[in-house]
Amino acid sequence: MATNSIRFFPLNTGALIPSVGLGTWQSSPGLVGDAVAAAIKVGYRHIDCAQIYDNEKEIGSVLKKLFEDGVVKREDLWITSKLWNTDHAPEDVPKALDRTLRDLQLDYVDLYLIHWPVPMKKGSVGFKPENLESPNIPSTWKAMEELYDSGKARAIGVSNFSSKKLGDLLEVARIPPAVNQVECHPSWQQDKLLAFCKSKGVHLSGYSPLGSPGTTWLQSDVLKHPVLNLIADKLGKTPAQVALRWGLQMGHSVLPKSTNEARIKENFDIFDWSIPDDLFTKFSEIQQARLIRGTTFVHETHGIYRSLEELWDGEI
Ligand code: A2P
Repeated sequence: MATNSIRFFPLNTGALIPSVGLGTWQSSPGLVGDAVAAAIKVGYRHIDCAQIYDNEKEIGSVLKKLFEDGVVKREDLWITSKLWNTDHAPEDVPKALDRTLRDLQLDYVDLYLIHWPVPMKKGSVGFKPENLESPNIPSTWKAMEELYDSGKARAIGVSNFSSKKLGDLLEVARIPPAVNQVECHPSWQQDKLLAFCKSKGVHLSGYSPLGSPGTTWLQSDVLKHPVLNLIADKLGKTPAQVALRWGLQMGHSVLPKSTNEARIKENFDIFDWSIPDDLFTKFSEIQQARLIRGTTFVHETHGIYRSLEELWDGEI
């Protein structure tokens, strides 16, 4: 049986998003540039960035060199970046993208996302409760639509939106979001949100697809789960590869972060094999738990979300 390699997913803009992107959250300065170069040389064509990751300048220098050396062409790459919470005011949205474009040394991004549905005080640094503000997503979205019109963002979307928040946005959007990027892995499968996104033609992209095992403040044992290890043993793959291939077969793109060349390669070696149906059904046995809960965005008196229930509209 021929394996469907699942290299791309179609977006509602007509573009094709490469199914595996290199994550850059928590990729340290000094390491992220080499990671991006290694990934592109291995065949990655999708890099997931964000202004708040504080490493876009280094990524920009490396991209410039890769273009100059003829390793890859701009038009063959997919670059995503994200609007940080302090820049939700409509007049700040184009400035934030301009800064990202300057840092990345690019004329456009392929995808620009509202990072969280949580605005924070303009210019504020850190996650203090007094920095939280009430969102006006429709007005932020209008500014995002203008970026799409200008061609500086070839697709626009959101991140960390619940089904309810995405549905509310779809009601008012002139240009519907192309993507909702959310935590997604075998231990947080997002069944309800994935079905909702599919029904509305919004592509789901999964961040922390390995469960972010290196994040010290998370209790992450996604890759240790017996189901993943059983399937990995049966197929002669690693648990990380099984987690990523599961994502592709579920129909969402995956954004594994690594700054280690061997693991960057390993995470891209998921196209010429697949998880057979009898093993695929085992994923339904895995107990579900959200890892990235967004507790810092919830406060009894500041901002708008009084509880995690409210931030995620019950999808918790
Ligand atoms: P490293 O950068 O040293 O490779 P996620 O993408 O879910 O956020 O996970 C990222 C974390 O997983 C990082 O700590 C990364 O460490 C680690 N990681 C990346 N690829 C693999 C892999 N194939 N096997 C095990 N751990 C991995």
